[in-house]
Amino acid sequence: MTSSRKKNAVTVLGATGSIGDSTLDIIAQHSDKFDLFAVSGNQRIDKLAEICRRFKPIYAVTVDRLAAECLEKRIKLDSLDTKVIYGEVAFHSVCSHPDVDVVVTGIVGAAGLLPTLSAIDAGKKVLIANKEPLVMMGQSIILRAQASGATLVPLDSEHNAILQCLPQRERLDLPEKSVSSLLLTASGGPFRTFSKVELAHVTPAQAIAHPNWSMGTKISVDSATLMNKGLELIEACILFSMHPSDVRVVIHPQSAIHSMVEYIDGSYLAQLGSPDMRIPIAYGLAYPERITSGAEKLDFTKCSPFEFEEPDLDRFPCLRLAREAAEAGGIAPIVLSAANEVAVGAFLNLQIRFTDIPTVIEFTLDTIDMISDGSVEQILSVDEEARRLSKGLIERQFSG
Ligand SMILES: NC(=O)c1ccc[n+]([C@@H]2O[C@H](COP(=O)([O-])OP(=O)(O)OC[C@H]3O[C@@H](n4cnc5c(N)ncnc54)[C@H](OP(=O)(O)O)[C@@H]3O)[C@@H](O)[C@H]2O)c1
Repeated sequence: MTSSRKKNAVTVLGATGSIGDSTLDIIAQHSDKFDLFAVSGNQRIDKLAEICRRFKPIYAVTVDRLAAECLEKRIKLDSLDTKVIYGEVAFHSVCSHPDVDVVVTGIVGAAGLLPTLSAIDAGKKVLIANKEPLVMMGQSIILRAQASGATLVPLDSEHNAILQCLPQRERLDLPEKSVSSLLLTASGGPFRTFSKVELAHVTPAQAIAHPNWSMGTKISVDSATLMNKGLELIEACILFSMHPSDVRVVIHPQSAIHSMVEYIDGSYLAQLGSPDMRIPIAYGLAYPERITSGAEKLDFTKCSPFEFEEPDLDRFPCLRLAREAAEAGGIAPIVLSAANEVAVGAFLNLQIRFTDIPTVIEFTLDTIDMISDGSVEQILSVDEEARRLSKGLIERQFSG
């Protein structure tokens, strides 16, 4: 018997990245449920061409014309029907197209802001991996989703875990408080046990070698500085309407518990699983149902004992800066995220040391003098100014 249910048409933004890999894997496993409508990439055009050959999406989107022309040649050689489009309007159209049901946001950094907003404003089911737009937009992103009827499902394993641990009526919007706090778990990254002196000499190669998760370069460095946990703290406040003081971070090196919800009666609900992004992505794609993910089952005899530690804000000041930005609100989270992107880029280019990353961010937060009315235009101007200030400091203080 064949199912008469319509397949879900999915746009995968950042299809050539790590989130893209895991999403395409789930789509391939469940080709009876999902069709690939569009994919996007930036520099890895060979990989985008390979994805087009394998999945035959209707559209492939690139950032610029040169990359589009290069991809177009490959698509023609393979005699595929995929249409190649590029630029801001192209991203908008594959996120808001009436035929699209689901948009997966796997672009890294602030570059994902406008496509994410296009998907939300069009009322799509939006699976959010790309946390930086959330951090930049704050609560207004939730208001936009409420206005358009978009369903937001976080893919970050921590927020996805929290979503799974919340009672149905309180998901993503907690009106009556039966929840007293959220506990975000963090592996502690590759430098969990390093001294401050050792941290000053770590290399980009060491920073991107995460002990438990396989991820893109920027998020791997963010995990090593604990800025990723800081961005997640801000993300949790926005998604679950929590005050920063009610979101705690606990180091859990085994990465088996992905986060916990503490209820007012003293109960804690936790979600556990292998450190494999296919689990939250499968949950998001099927939400509110469940499908298989192909992830390895958790072997409790191998991942025990479970350990928990307080994060050390002296050795990892990025988490302190993020918490302060969450508490300050206003433009602080936008500045934090923009300065962090610049500083991480400079660290990867060997312009600054690992321990200079928080210095650049703190300088930018202390120096910027702007206000924002929360409009997208002003958010983008704050982002631009924060990048200008961060780059200026790096050139003055760390170059040569
Ligand atoms: N990886 C994870 O396990 C994980 C977990 C939770 C949350 N996240 C979040 O998900 C997002 C993606 O992470 P990732 O690890 O998948 O990163 P990644 O492997 O570096 O992939 C990034 C993707 O974004 C594309 N891209 C880069 N710059 C772009 C631009 N200016 N415009 C449009 N597209 C651009 C890249 O294209 P090219 O590769 O073709 O250049 C690639 O497809 C991040 O915000 C991260 O924090 C990731």
